Amino acid sequence: VEGHLSPRRPDALRAAFTIDYGYAVHFTGDALDPGDPTLADEGARAGAARVLPVVDAGVLAAHPELPERLGGYADRHCPSMELAGPPVVLPGGELVKNDPRHVEMVQAAASDRGICRHSTVLVIGGGAVLDVGGYAAATAHRGVRLIRMPTTVLAQSDSGVGVKNGVNAFGKKNFVGSFAPPAAVINDSRLLTTLPTLDWLAGTSEAVKVASLKDADFFAQLEQDQTALLNRDRAAMDRLIRRCARLHVEHIATGGDPFEAGPARPLDFGHWAGHKLEQLSGFRLRHGEAVALGLAVDATYAHHTGLLPGDDCRRVLALLDALGLRTTTPELTDPRLLDGLEEFREHLGGELTITLIKGIGQGVEVHEIDRDVMSRCITAIDEWTRRSARD
Ligand SMILES: NC(=O)c1ccc[n+]([C@@H]2O[C@H](COP(=O)([O-])OP(=O)(O)OC[C@H]3O[C@@H](n4cnc5c(N)ncnc54)[C@H](O)[C@@H]3O)[C@@H](O)[C@H]2O)c1
Ligand SMILES: [Zn+2]
Repeated sequence: VEGHLSPRRPDALRAAFTIDYGYAVHFTGDALDPGDPTLADEGARAGAARVLPVVDAGVLAAHPELPERLGGYADRHCPSMELAGPPVVLPGGELVKNDPRHVEMVQAAASDRGICRHSTVLVIGGGAVLDVGGYAAATAHRGVRLIRMPTTVLAQSDSGVGVKNGVNAFGKKNFVGSFAPPAAVINDSRLLTTLPTLDWLAGTSEAVKVASLKDADFFAQLEQDQTALLNRDRAAMDRLIRRCARLHVEHIATGGDPFEAGPARPLDFGHWAGHKLEQLSGFRLRHGEAVALGLAVDATYAHHTGLLPGDDCRRVLALLDALGLRTTTPELTDPRLLDGLEEFREHLGGELTITLIKGIGQGVEVHEIDRDVMSRCITAIDEWTRRSARD
C-alpha cells in the first residue's frame, strides 16, 4: 500500500488489487427439464441454494406453465436449489425500464424473502427485463448473484451475455445502471419458439452488426442462412445465436476494456443513430429495428466518405433487407436525429468516437463525422427503405 504511484504525495496510500471475473454462457434446449442439471449447478455454485425468480410478463403469457415447471425443477434439485417464493413478474418491453418502481419491486422481494449475498436472482426475460432485474440484483445488498435466462434473440446473442445492466432515467436511455458480470447465463432455445416474428427478426440486426465488424465468415454464413432465418428455422437461429454470443464473450474477455473505461465502443456500429431513433420514436421502434436502420445509415456514410467499397456496402444493405429489417420510419428524417452524434459522445465522454467498417469484418474508428454527408446518407436510406417497402 506504499504510495509509490503518487510521487508528488509520498504519504498517499494506494489500494490496488486484481479480481478474476468469469462466467459461463450455456446453450440448452430446455433448461427447466428436471434432467438438465445446468441451472441447479450454477445456482448452487455459491454455496447457498436460495433462488429468487423474476419473470417477464410477456414470457409468462406465452409460457403459462413456467412457474409450475420452475417449481418442479427446484423440487427435483432440492436441497441444492430452493425457490424463494413465486416469480416476481415484471412487464416486458422497454417501458419497464422507465419506471423505478420495477427495480424496487425486485429489491423489495429480495429483502422480504431472505435473499442474502450468496443467494441468486434468476431473471427470465427479454433484454429490458434482464436490465431491470440485473440492476436490482447488482444493488440489493450491494450485489447478489445473478443468473440470466434470456428469452429473445437479441438477449441470447447480445445483451444478455454481457456485463451491463441499466434503466432509463432523466429522459436518457440506460442512464442509471452498473457493470456487474453475471454468475452465469443460460440460453434456452425452447423459449424462443413463442417470440413474435418481429422480435425474432429484430434480434438478428446485432448479428449483422458484429459480423460486419469482426467476422467475414459469419457474415457469409448469415447471407447463406437469410431465408431460413426469415422462415424461423430453429437450426439457423441456433447457429446465429451461438456465433454472435461467442463474438460478444470474446470481446468482453479479450478486448481489454470490459467495463468500458475508454472513449470507444468498438461494438457500437450503427448505434449512435439506433439509440436516437429509438428515443425519437418514444421506444415504439425496438432496439434491433433501430440498430438495423443505424447500420444502414453508417454503412452508407462509410461508403460515401470513401471508407467502404460499394460492393461491401451493398452486401450489408441487402442482408438487412433479406432479414426483413427494412423499416420505414418517420424518425429517420427528423432533423434531431443528428443530435444523436453529440449525445453519443457525451454518454461515453472524451473525443467523439464512431465505429464504422472499411470492409466486411473490418471495424474502424473515426473521430469526425461530416454532418452534411451524413444528412445526405440518411435521406438516401430513407428513400431506399420507402422504395423497398413498396416493392
Ligand atoms: N445490458 C446490455 O448490455 C444491453 C445491450 C443491448 C440492449 N439492451 C437492452 O435490451 C432491451 C431490448 O431487449 P429485447 O430486444 O430482448 O426486447 P424486450 O426485452 O423489449 O422484449 C420485447 C417483447 O418480447 C416479449 N418477450 C420476450 N421474450 C419472449 C418470448 N420468449 N416469447 C414471447 N414474448 C417474449 C417481452 O415481453 C416484450 O414484450 C433494450 O432495453 C436495450 O436497451 C441491453
Ligand atoms: Zn445494441
